[in-house]
Amino acid sequence: MKMNTSHEREKAFRTLALCAVLFAPTAGMAGDAQDRAADISRGAQTWVNNCARCHNPRDPKEFRDDLWKPITYHMRVRAGLTGQQTRDVLKFLQESN
Ligand code: HEC
Repeated sequence: MKMNTSHEREKAFRTLALCAVLFAPTAGMAGDAQDRAADISRGAQTWVNNCARCHNPRDPKEFRDDLWKPITYHMRVRAGLTGQQTRDVLKFLQESN
């Protein structure tokens, strides 16, 4: 039963982390637009530097735009990206597939 409990806790934590990630980008929308616009070349840089740390870099063409969104938010948690980096990477992936 011990295994189950820690599994449940991990699941709860993941759900919380995912909520934080999903709501974080909207929370900051009121700020400076200049600062927040996603930038493809910055995104490409972040992709090269971060996304290949744990697995082979995933080709943008592997997924459709609508699938890249949840995947990028999922990977944001894994990679510890900032909101800006996440938006940049997402833009890069969606523009390059
Ligand atoms: C800290 C390690 C780590 C980093 C950094 C990382 N990933 Fe992942 N990635 C994983 C793991 C582990 C999985 C397997 C699914 C899981 O358990 O979350 C995965 C799975 C994936 C998948 C398969 C689909 C899915 O959601 O399971 C894609 C696509 C992906 N990663 C893309 C990326 C991109 C793009 C980045 C950069 C923003 C990135 N990863 C950064 C660890 C990482």
